Amino acid sequence: MKHAQSAGNIELVDHEASRDRDAVVRMLQHAFAGDREGIEGWMKVGGEANFRTLLDSSRPAATLLRIPMGQYFGGRSVKMLGIAGVAVAPEDRGRGYAKRMMQCCVQAAHNEGWPLVGLFASTHSLYRSVGFEHAGHRFQYTIPMTQIDAGPHSRERVVPLDPESAEIAECYAEFAARYDGTLDRGPYIWQRVKSPRGEEHHPFGVRDEHGTLQGYVFVNQKRRADGRADVNLSDFVFHSAAAGRRLWALLADYSMMSHDLIFFGGPTHPALLLLAQQRYSIVNKDTWLIRVSHVKAALEARGYAPCVRAQLHLDITDDLVPANAGRWTLSIEDGKARTEQGGRGEIRVDRRGLAAIYSGLLTPTQAANVGLASGDPAALHAAGSAFAGGAPWMSDHF
Ligand SMILES: CC(C)(COP(=O)(O)OP(=O)(O)OC[C@H]1O[C@@H](n2cnc3c(N)ncnc32)[C@H](O)[C@@H]1OP(=O)(O)O)[C@@H](O)C(=O)NCCC(=O)NCCS
Repeated sequence: MKHAQSAGNIELVDHEASRDRDAVVRMLQHAFAGDREGIEGWMKVGGEANFRTLLDSSRPAATLLRIPMGQYFGGRSVKMLGIAGVAVAPEDRGRGYAKRMMQCCVQAAHNEGWPLVGLFASTHSLYRSVGFEHAGHRFQYTIPMTQIDAGPHSRERVVPLDPESAEIAECYAEFAARYDGTLDRGPYIWQRVKSPRGEEHHPFGVRDEHGTLQGYVFVNQKRRADGRADVNLSDFVFHSAAAGRRLWALLADYSMMSHDLIFFGGPTHPALLLLAQQRYSIVNKDTWLIRVSHVKAALEARGYAPCVRAQLHLDITDDLVPANAGRWTLSIEDGKARTEQGGRGEIRVDRRGLAAIYSGLLTPTQAANVGLASGDPAALHAAGSAFAGGAPWMSDHF
């Protein structure tokens, strides 16, 4: 049995209330192979007030960072609590502390009204055991610089940008809302776009004839031993094919002194679709997970296909958050949904199946295929059109 020994005295508290910052820093150092200075710098970026610590009889036993942000689904931003920095000291591992902490974290998120909790996982089984499920991907693309061919483009209007300018965030928001799973970024994520792991990335943008930003990239070059560099992008965003092609041309102009271009996204990142040939390679860096922490808030916050008018009858299992569980009727109209408790419960999903269907990673029929949903095949199939989008992805990591 792997349970924390004194379960009666276990609580998740604000980091300040843990009264033992050194123990928390030590946990994080051992968990992420960091030195004290690096961990403290990262804690500052995350905001110490956003850390939570699991206490076992007043002793810090586990810790995590909460990152408030949002995530786009069906064109609307849904509030999402990102979780990072989940850590247990080496001598305390295997005693159930991380699982207990994640249970408390999900329950707290529900009580605070967060519709979703999201994370990247080192061990998927830990998070699945508290109701998270695969919800989308983050691929790494590598393309040899000499192979970039995005067709004819205009030679005008590429400009260096001020990384702090509001127009970048506005341009990003319009782009991100078109793709399920992309983040509605808060300061923590923007910091990682501008300076991931302390490596400054420089933004360049394309403007239209009115001066409005139509796209941008954040660029960094990393030299190899032979003196030539790899070009790394922390963001590749555009609103039109013309802007996308102009950005590709900007990047191709680095090719004289570079080997590879590297950026992140998902199967439907539009930059790939502008390339004439498929001369890039793809690595699945991460399959990220979400947890529907508040069923009503989550189902009502996301967008739905505007042409769909439907009533879905769900029967949800969730023993960790009983308020989520039971029968729900989802009435969809004009791209929005209303929920009421009760109904016929035709589509049976557990909390994990709900997460995968909610994000659009799986249709209800596909979820049934892997045991995450069940019900009348016709009802499952019909529900698929309500959640239809593209394959969900994000370029960011947290
Ligand atoms: C991952 C970590 C937080 C787990 O903490 P823990 O308190 O030992 O975990 P628990 O005892 O609560 O285990 C809960 C579940 O996690 C999974 N898990 C725990 N350790 C694991 C390991 N070494 N390998 C694979 N899965 C593991 C198991 O599914 C386990 O359930 P089980 O015991 O029923 O099989 C801890 O090992 C750690 O700090 N690792 C380094 C940092 C890290 O990877 N953090 C997570 C980032 S997302």
